[in-house]
Amino acid sequence: MPGVERFRVEGGGRLQGEVRVTGAKNSVLKLMAAALLAEGESTIVDVPAILDTEIMAELLRRLGCGVELDQATDGGPGAGGSVRIDVPAVPGHEADYDLVRRMRASICVLGPLLARCGQVSVARPGGDNIGSRPLDMHISGLERLGATIETEHGFIVAKAPRGLTGAQVWLDFPSVGATENILMAAVLAKGTTVIDNAAREPEIVDLCFMLEQMGAKIGGAGTSTLEIQGTDRLTPTRHVSVPDRIVAGTWAYAATMTRGDVFVRNGRAEHLEIALDKLVRSGATVERVAPGEGDEGGFRVRMDERPKAVDVVTLPFPGFATDLLPMVLALNSVADGAAMVTENVFEARFMFVDELARLGADVRTDGHHCVVRGKERLSGAPVRAHDIRAGAGLIMAGLVSDGVTTVSDAYHVDRGYPGFAEQLRSLGVDVTRETDPDALLEG
Ligand code: EPZ
Repeated sequence: MPGVERFRVEGGGRLQGEVRVTGAKNSVLKLMAAALLAEGESTIVDVPAILDTEIMAELLRRLGCGVELDQATDGGPGAGGSVRIDVPAVPGHEADYDLVRRMRASICVLGPLLARCGQVSVARPGGDNIGSRPLDMHISGLERLGATIETEHGFIVAKAPRGLTGAQVWLDFPSVGATENILMAAVLAKGTTVIDNAAREPEIVDLCFMLEQMGAKIGGAGTSTLEIQGTDRLTPTRHVSVPDRIVAGTWAYAATMTRGDVFVRNGRAEHLEIALDKLVRSGATVERVAPGEGDEGGFRVRMDERPKAVDVVTLPFPGFATDLLPMVLALNSVADGAAMVTENVFEARFMFVDELARLGADVRTDGHHCVVRGKERLSGAPVRAHDIRAGAGLIMAGLVSDGVTTVSDAYHVDRGYPGFAEQLRSLGVDVTRETDPDALLEG
């Protein structure tokens, strides 16, 4: 039962060695949904062995797809697997609550199913521990393409019986999810769609690449204006996912705050410019190794002294990624000096700060600002993961704490980090998983 396991972190180690990052969770989930746009078998390669890919696989099975998820366990958690998705001529068009409540990203089947089936109903995902997460931009964008959308009995019900028609769409904010849903609807619409103020994340560019391999016509991938020429039919494809920049960034921050030396194989430094620049300002060295013949390349992060505090402002790409906020807060909690960290994407992302304070960190929040005064060391304590990234951040903080830290609700971390404890041990620190006696009591 999820929530029974916790991480046990022995403080004091330095991360040393090499770790590989797989394809990105936040791309692979959308690539799997994009497969719905074409009848036949598509294959996604370098898929991480995480809970979310299993949930997406199950969602696609319930929509009538044949799904084979092959998790290459022999190569260790850093070796990505693959997923083959065989989409029927007429897929199902209802995504039920049971799966959507476990993974908000399920909402990304809305656009593809509306485009393929002319109707779709997806359970409305609630908010989560990082914010209320409304869907107004997804809905208004799809309505601009001609869909009628209602909320009925907890489901978003969208209809376009005569198909979708291209249109001009402006997004109030460069939302990743809204850009993806509108993009995946527009590729099969009649005429041209322009999405202005579109998201520019590497995962969006990756989705555009896959859709183009399927026959879509897209201009402006990676810019804030996407232009999509609708087409009648797409064909299945095989696509290798972009590497996970958030996992790669997590390793970079962990190496720095533990004064370690880590080579992040397959990590793309160009997807982490601001995050890595902050580490250089903190005193680390970052060496890039370009991919070459048979070599995936990556980057190496080394730190020999106590990090210096760094101010950060989170923003949509190419700004500092909000998903790395817990990592920079953990770094600043043991850095030399004080820092101001500002969160501009999710209103409740500081929820985990109280857990950091339980480890003795000097952190104060005021609205979407947080001031952190660094300490030499933190002190180990039992804490709880509120979400994927908060969990990883607390494990990092445990590495620079005296004594033992336990991080409960390990399942959060399992949703985004394949074999996290195993990979940490391979880098020379003592992190294990154990049954959480408190959870059993609470159970
Ligand atoms: C994606 O979420 C990622 N999730 C998130 O990663 C990531 O933090 C986020 O993008 C930003 O980079 C996946 O890809 C599965 P948004 P998404 O739409 O698409 C508001 C992780 O840990 N908004 O860009 O949900 C929204 O509330 C996760 O891997 C509206 O107001 O993010 C938020 O404040 C956490 N109305 C902001 O925009 C809308 O219709 C950005 O959300 C849509 C969004």
